[in-house]
Amino acid sequence: MCGIVGYVGPQDARDVVLEGLRRLEYRGYDSAGIAVVADGTLTAVKKAGKLANLEKVLAEQPLPAATIGIGHTRWATHGGPTDRNAHPHLSADGTVAVIHNGIIENFAALRAECEAAGVEFTSDTDSEVAAHLLAAAYEAGAEGQSRLADAMRVVCRRLEGAFTLVATSASEPDTLVAARRSSPLVVGVGDGEYFLGSDVAAFISHTREARELGQDQVVEIDRYRGLSVTDFAGNAVEPTSYTVDWDAEAAEKGGYDWFMLKEIAEQPQAIADTLLGRLGAHGELVLDEVRLSDEELRDVDKIFVVACGTAYHAGLIAKYAIEHWTRIPVEVEVASEFRYRDPVLDRSTLVIVISQSGETMDTLMALRHAKEQKARVLAICNANGSTIPRESDAVLYTHAGPEIAVASTKGFLTQLVACYLVGLFLAQVRGMKYEDEVAAIVADLRKLPDAVAEVLSGMDEVRALARELADANTILFLGRHVGFPVALEGALKLKELAYIHAEGFAAGELKHGPIAVVDKGTPVIVIVPSPRSRESVHGKVVSNIQEVRARGARTIVIAEEGDEDVVPYADHLIRVPRTPTLLAPVVTTVPLQVLACEIADTRGLDVDQPRNLAKSVTVE
Ligand code: G6P
Repeated sequence: MCGIVGYVGPQDARDVVLEGLRRLEYRGYDSAGIAVVADGTLTAVKKAGKLANLEKVLAEQPLPAATIGIGHTRWATHGGPTDRNAHPHLSADGTVAVIHNGIIENFAALRAECEAAGVEFTSDTDSEVAAHLLAAAYEAGAEGQSRLADAMRVVCRRLEGAFTLVATSASEPDTLVAARRSSPLVVGVGDGEYFLGSDVAAFISHTREARELGQDQVVEIDRYRGLSVTDFAGNAVEPTSYTVDWDAEAAEKGGYDWFMLKEIAEQPQAIADTLLGRLGAHGELVLDEVRLSDEELRDVDKIFVVACGTAYHAGLIAKYAIEHWTRIPVEVEVASEFRYRDPVLDRSTLVIVISQSGETMDTLMALRHAKEQKARVLAICNANGSTIPRESDAVLYTHAGPEIAVASTKGFLTQLVACYLVGLFLAQVRGMKYEDEVAAIVADLRKLPDAVAEVLSGMDEVRALARELADANTILFLGRHVGFPVALEGALKLKELAYIHAEGFAAGELKHGPIAVVDKGTPVIVIVPSPRSRESVHGKVVSNIQEVRARGARTIVIAEEGDEDVVPYADHLIRVPRTPTLLAPVVTTVPLQVLACEIADTRGLDVDQPRNLAKSVTVE
């Protein structure tokens, strides 16, 4: 949420910052802005709406060439998405520019204080106070090196809430200063040049060398003296170095109309990469990154899976697999609710947090709550160097590569695979499954990339169907067992992308109320479990299809190859390859992704950047 870019070095900062903003626009697109320092003067340009609007303004009133610059794409929290609320925010004398991601919770008191001192505010944001406070601290500070960094530390000590701040000053034309608390920021280190970004996508076309900043830290980057990191009190800290293993190409559209289409197509590879290197010589599972000892894992008597949005749906599916394989009770919760209801947690509780971005504030806060209660926390995450894995006791990375489209696709499927691996690993360590049983399931997991590729190769009919459904007012999704969370995910995708009312239901619940909304022609998408699934759940879902059809529904049925029982009741039949029941969501989700993407495209909507959303939600 909010993209942040900074650059200092020999290149033209205008180009580097705009390129970074293009790559980060998925984080927010309510407005965009840029500031550069050239010849001792700070110039800023900002514009409401997508980055293209800013680019138009810049074409008419170009900024001067510069070697230092900062840029911002906004997802509005305080103050509407207008020009005046766009970042950067400038100090009253125009010499200091600040960009901010997060929420400054005590901004009202700080604003009143600044106003009492005679400052006139030019925006309705919480962020602007940072610019004025920084200018005041700068003025009050001692002359000499690190004056801007000193001022930043003074300001950070006064701020409450979550923030990443990046500042530049006309008086220090070679210095960028940034700070973070509970909000993302990474530093890229090139040859004689430095980058700042909300995530590495901002700079991977320039360098893969990165530094992670910890909680409550300030980084000062001097073009000639290099970078130094301190805590808010000014004590020196050694930042963690790492090399980004994504390449720049992975963050490009690569010929697809939408990032989402590319990311859907990348799913077979992403699943294969997530499975890579997880098997030992005897077929046993080896999860080196899971830094919890076997003893700690044997002690676990209860598991919570905590996540948001699509990642939450991965957690719902994980429950079925983990409970089945380990017999440990699993509860799944949306992160925004978790800590506020005082969940029962102790040392024997394992909390699995799932987050593609590793920065979702709700999930981060749930993680911190779990740690305070002494529970052990295992993160399933895609973004290296992000906050959630850093603060967790253990981490299992998905290897999906950068996911740019706001709606998660390959992130989701790889989260499922990671959840399966965690479940199997726990079963193995706790002696619930022999190595050969684990190896047999891993062999099934290894068939998933081909199964997903097969589904993808047969999507023409789904696309044609999408065009027919583009004007629907409401679409329902039904599923049972692991098909239920798939139904929820299908509905979420449609809401996110096509702005069509959609709901997912447990097929068995239908008769207890939701069936009342089924009317003549209502599209109902049914995810049918395998005929081999337990206790005739298949037969019950086939009955559910008949029930909605009898009330006039247009039935769209997703069923595995060879399932002939569904044929008489399916107005549209989408086939998926035979897959073991617990793993089936990996294949049954794919047509729903394609359907939502195609419906949104047919409706002329921006598939990658749906209205009101942001990829990484770093506010609570
Ligand atoms: C946002 C996105 C969703 C995503 C959710 C969780 O709401 O729009 O697509 O599923 O955040 O994101 P995370 O990065 O924690 O998986």
